[in-house]
Amino acid sequence: MSLLRTKTIEQSIADTDEPEYQLKKRLTALDLTVFGIGVIIGAGIFTLTGRAAQAYAGPSIALSFVLAAICCGLAALCYAEFSSTVPVSGSAYTFSYFSLGEIFAWIIGWDLLLELMLGASVVAQGWSSYAALFLEQIGLSWPESIGPDSSVNVLAMLLVLVLTVLATIGIKESLRVNLVLVAVKLFVVLFVIVAGLFYVKGSNLTPFIPPSVPAEGGEVTATTPLFQALFGFVPSSFGVMGLISGASLVFFAFIGFDVVATTAEEARNPQRDLPRGIIGSLAICTVLYVLVCIVITGMVNYKDINSEAALAEAFRSVGRPGFATLISAGAVAGLTTVVLTLMIGAARVVFAMSRDHLVPARIGKTHPKFGTPYRLTLGIGVLVALVAGLTPIGKLEEMVNIGTLAAFTMVAIAVPLLRRRRPDIQRAFRVPGNPVVPILAALISIYLMLNLSLETWLRFAIWMALGFAVYAVYGYRRSRVGREEQTGEVTRA
Ligand code: ALA
Repeated sequence: MSLLRTKTIEQSIADTDEPEYQLKKRLTALDLTVFGIGVIIGAGIFTLTGRAAQAYAGPSIALSFVLAAICCGLAALCYAEFSSTVPVSGSAYTFSYFSLGEIFAWIIGWDLLLELMLGASVVAQGWSSYAALFLEQIGLSWPESIGPDSSVNVLAMLLVLVLTVLATIGIKESLRVNLVLVAVKLFVVLFVIVAGLFYVKGSNLTPFIPPSVPAEGGEVTATTPLFQALFGFVPSSFGVMGLISGASLVFFAFIGFDVVATTAEEARNPQRDLPRGIIGSLAICTVLYVLVCIVITGMVNYKDINSEAALAEAFRSVGRPGFATLISAGAVAGLTTVVLTLMIGAARVVFAMSRDHLVPARIGKTHPKFGTPYRLTLGIGVLVALVAGLTPIGKLEEMVNIGTLAAFTMVAIAVPLLRRRRPDIQRAFRVPGNPVVPILAALISIYLMLNLSLETWLRFAIWMALGFAVYAVYGYRRSRVGREEQTGEVTRA
């Protein structure tokens, strides 16, 4: 039973008052929305959309985005309820500690690390490709031997290290840089939509859902979605199945709104502003994404879409290379904020875990002047830099998706559970239609997970097995809640 030991909500809130683990409360609703947009719009729209349209969905990729947005919207409501009720760092990890129990909290924390650290590394690699392309377009060049296609990607490492220093110095400072870069990114996305509309050809958009095509050989392979393999469908792309596989992949483009919840302790008025930040940033991005999809698949026939840099190449193909340079610049700015925010989120999750002694407590101490968990931020920065610089993870977006979808599922299940267990606590924001909406959120998340490939499931299983081993060897014994339970001693303020 002690695997299911829970932390009380009051304990979680009391923890935030400990002097050595205090974060500065400086963020407003606008800061949080910008933070959200900063982390959401990134590699998903700049690179994945092209790949997903070409391989899975054709023009119906716009509908894939709508499906993924519905899943995220429902999950966002659940995140908003939790973070407005208990504004404590750590997001889904913290929520599950007091609603589902320690082992689930650990599983989620471990999942979130996969989402945030692997996500930051994948996007840093995507950034380096765009940065090299941009340098080339303006007549400079980056040595190929230490560029994005070499075995030591110094460009990606440099980005991560600079951002690590920024994240260590302070969250407000990070957000100031974020604000400028988000403005550039939004401008470029709007530019793609407005300029692209003039080149849209109706013929490229019909049929909107291309007919289903069996995968080569019709055999089950490592890349077949688990759902198709389990239920004996002939593996295929396009058609309705393709649209759904597309949604499971482009789900990546929405990842990040949940990171807003990880900064809960740094918000000035979390009860009011967190739901606004989470739902606001998600809504704005969904509208932009659907429009970009229609424009891109309308400009270029999906069979000819460039799967690496779809947006820039679409303009080059209609004789507008100058626009392509502008888009590359936007992607460079845009992906920078994604990497920064994912790293800040990862540090906040480990911070919360260290306060609970599920990982060593001393690594979570905050800096007396900067008010950030500086040891953790530096450690995470070095790890992300190494993974981004030295490993071939460029196409592992699906791994990031599966970790995030697993966290969504648990958060959604936790909402009705906590409503039952603690009807007394005040909830500044409540999910409408409980328990139907949270259950629907969980079911859609599971369905999208099932549409991810067999190889992704295998890698995910390995990651989780590793997580259980770490918990068995360290967290289970050292857990602060566990110790308090055993000895009766109180170790918090
Ligand atoms: N949503 C983020 C992106 O698309 C992770 O880059």
